[in-house]
Amino acid sequence: MAAHVSPPASPSGAAARRFDGQVALVAGGAGGIGAETCRLLAELGAIVWVLDQHSTAADDVIGQIRVDGGICYACRADATDRAEVHRAVADVVRTSGRLDVLVNTIGWTMTRPFIEEDEEYWQTVVAVNLLAHIYLCHAVLGPMAARGYGRIVGVSSDAGRVGTRGETVYAAAKAAVIGFTKSLAREVARHGILVNAVSPGPTRTPLLDHQDQNAVAAMIRHIPVRRLGTASEQAAAITFLASPAASFITGQVLSVSGGLTMVD
Ligand SMILES: NC(=O)c1ccc[n+]([C@@H]2O[C@H](COP(=O)([O-])OP(=O)(O)OC[C@H]3O[C@@H](n4cnc5c(N)ncnc54)[C@H](O)[C@@H]3O)[C@@H](O)[C@H]2O)c1
Repeated sequence: MAAHVSPPASPSGAAARRFDGQVALVAGGAGGIGAETCRLLAELGAIVWVLDQHSTAADDVIGQIRVDGGICYACRADATDRAEVHRAVADVVRTSGRLDVLVNTIGWTMTRPFIEEDEEYWQTVVAVNLLAHIYLCHAVLGPMAARGYGRIVGVSSDAGRVGTRGETVYAAAKAAVIGFTKSLAREVARHGILVNAVSPGPTRTPLLDHQDQNAVAAMIRHIPVRRLGTASEQAAAITFLASPAASFITGQVLSVSGGLTMVD
């Protein structure tokens, strides 16, 4: 039997944590999956910046992380506004001196037939689910490339991989996030920046609470593990891809869906 090997110790004598010394920006960090990701990153040693347009909810997340002994700051911005995104990222880099990780959990949709939608809704869905991600990634590349290290984790959706009735334009935007992830990964690997995405299946968060609950119940019947996912299960996958351990993984999309989708 192999001898037990202790984890490496930090200079203070405490066990080293996966994100010690790193700075992480979590966009949508006040939401269901985002808040759990912030909490886990902070627990694993990261200095966490919560970028969200919902200041009160962000303050709640930050307050709880601080109570638990983590280091966490607010960074209010509407991520569909490119100037606000660039200002927010510049603030983080100026204050913390570096940026190692970008996680973007921002997303929004409503469930309704495509034929009943209007252009204003389409513009919003594309702006929130796709353009915000493009703006965030564009803003962080410079600071990450300057240090030769970066981890970007986007959040797509299984809707973007296999389609979902009632979420046509959302599915289109989330599919675009996948194409963007793969292409950007090819461009920036030479700078030490790895780009991946998590693709959640149905997960119990405020976003899902606002959907048609009959459709949610029908979806659960198709999930092999027969339940919804939790935000902490999504955060675990996101945090792995954001960590130094994922050093040979880029351009990948990891479905965290209880087996709902198993396509390549
Ligand atoms: N919950 C699910 O079942 C599910 C399934 C598949 C994919 N997803 C995706 O996972 C991600 C997280 O989802 P969630 O369930 O945690 O959602 P959520 O609604 O709980 O959180 C989204 C967060 O994004 C913030 N946000 C929205 N628009 C913003 C903007 N313009 N600028 C700044 N912040 C903004 C909101 O304030 C909120 O805090 C989203 O991308 C979503 O599309 C969720």
